[in-house]
Amino acid sequence: MTPEPLTVAVVGATGAVGRTMIHVLTERGFPMGELRPLASSRSAGSTISVDGRTIEVGEATGDAFDGVDIALFSAGGGVSRELAPVAVSRGVTVIDNSSAWRMEPRVPLVVSQVNPEDAAAHEGIIGNPNCSTMQLVPVLMALRDSVGLERVVVDTYQAVSGTGGKAIAELEGQVRAHVAGEPKIANVYPHPIAFNALPEIDVFLPNGYTKEEWKVVEESRKILHLPDLRLSCTAVRIPVFVAHSEAVHVETRDPITPERARELFAAVPGLVVRDDPAEHVYPLATEAAGRDEVFVGRVRQDPSVPGGRGLALWIVSDNLRKGAATNAVEIAEVIASRGWVAPAAARSSISGATGDAGSRA
Ligand SMILES: NC(=O)c1ccc[n+]([C@@H]2O[C@H](COP(=O)([O-])OP(=O)(O)OC[C@H]3O[C@@H](n4cnc5c(N)ncnc54)[C@H](OP(=O)(O)O)[C@@H]3O)[C@@H](O)[C@H]2O)c1
Repeated sequence: MTPEPLTVAVVGATGAVGRTMIHVLTERGFPMGELRPLASSRSAGSTISVDGRTIEVGEATGDAFDGVDIALFSAGGGVSRELAPVAVSRGVTVIDNSSAWRMEPRVPLVVSQVNPEDAAAHEGIIGNPNCSTMQLVPVLMALRDSVGLERVVVDTYQAVSGTGGKAIAELEGQVRAHVAGEPKIANVYPHPIAFNALPEIDVFLPNGYTKEEWKVVEESRKILHLPDLRLSCTAVRIPVFVAHSEAVHVETRDPITPERARELFAAVPGLVVRDDPAEHVYPLATEAAGRDEVFVGRVRQDPSVPGGRGLALWIVSDNLRKGAATNAVEIAEVIASRGWVAPAAARSSISGATGDAGSRA
C-alpha cells in the first residue's frame, strides 16, 4: 500500500535533533503533503531551508497542530508533557523523542527493527527510546531470540550532541580555550567536558544511578518484553561530537560463540558487523556519524562467565540519527504504511463501521 501524503509537524525543528528529523524525512522520501516546523516563540518567524525550499518556523501552540497527522516532538520533556496531549486532543499522533511518556504503560516504546508491532496499540503517543537504549536493543534482541538473556552490563561513552546545540558549542569553546591557554568555562556540564570523561548524565536518583543509566535499564526491559532482565549501566559523557559508543557484557542462558553471535547480528536489519581486529576494524564514532545503522564489533567470549555463556562487545551508532531522528521517522513509516496513523480505538471504530482498517490519512 502506498500511504497518502501526510501533514507532518516537527516540534523542536531548530534543534540538533529536530533539524536531523527534517533531513531524514526528506532524505527517505517520507510521504509528506506538508511539513510544519515548530519551535518556541524565540525562533518563530525564522526560516529553515528544506530541499531548496524556504519554510517559516511556527510557534508550537495548540492551534499549530490543526490539520496535522503526525507530530515528531524533540523539544525536551517539559514541552512534550505539556503539548503532546494538546496535539493528541486535536487528532494528531505524536512520536515523542523525550523521556516524558516512554515508561507510561499505555504508551508503546518502539525501536523499528525490534518491536514495530507494539506501535499498533497506540492511543495517540508513541515513545522514541533514549539514544543509548536504541543502539543496544537490536543486539540484545538477536541474543534473546537465539540463546536467551540472563544479565547485561553496559558502559556508555556518549557524545555531547546528546545534550543539544549548547553542549556542542561548549565543547568547541573549551577546545579553543585550551589551545589559547585560557580557562575552560563550563556552563552546560558541571565540569569541563574537553579532554575529560564525566560519569554524570542527567540527574542522580536515590539508588545512586543517574536517570540516563536507569532509562537504559527500564526502557530495554520494556522494548524487549523482558520485565525482569538483569541489567546495569554506567553512562559517561566524553568529548566526542556525534555518535555514542557502548562496551557491553552479556551473560546468556545457553552457550554461544562469537562466530555465531556475529551471524545473528548480521541478520538484523540496520545492524552492521565491523569486526576484524587484526586489521584494526571495529566500530568507530567517526565512521558511525552521519549513518543510520548500528555498528557492532569486538565480539569475543567473556571468560569470566562459565560454560561459554558470556560475550563482550562494542556497539556504536549516531545518536542524532538512529538514536533519535531516524528511528522516529522509521516509526512514522511503520504507522503510515500499516494503516496505524490513527489511534487503535479510532481504527477499530472505523473498521467496525465501514470494514475499513485503514488510516485516517
Ligand atoms: N533519542 C534521544 O533520547 C535523544 C537524543 C538526542 C536528544 N534528545 C533530547 O531531545 C531534545 C532535543 O534535543 P536537541 O539536541 O535537538 O536540543 P537543542 O539543540 O537544544 O534544541 C531544542 C529545540 O527545542 C525547541 N524548544 C525549546 N523550548 C521550546 C518550547 N517551549 N516550545 C517549543 N519548542 C521549544 C528549541 O526551539 P528554539 O530554537 O525556539 O529555542 C529547539 O528547536 C532534548 O530534550 C534532548 O535531551 C533525545
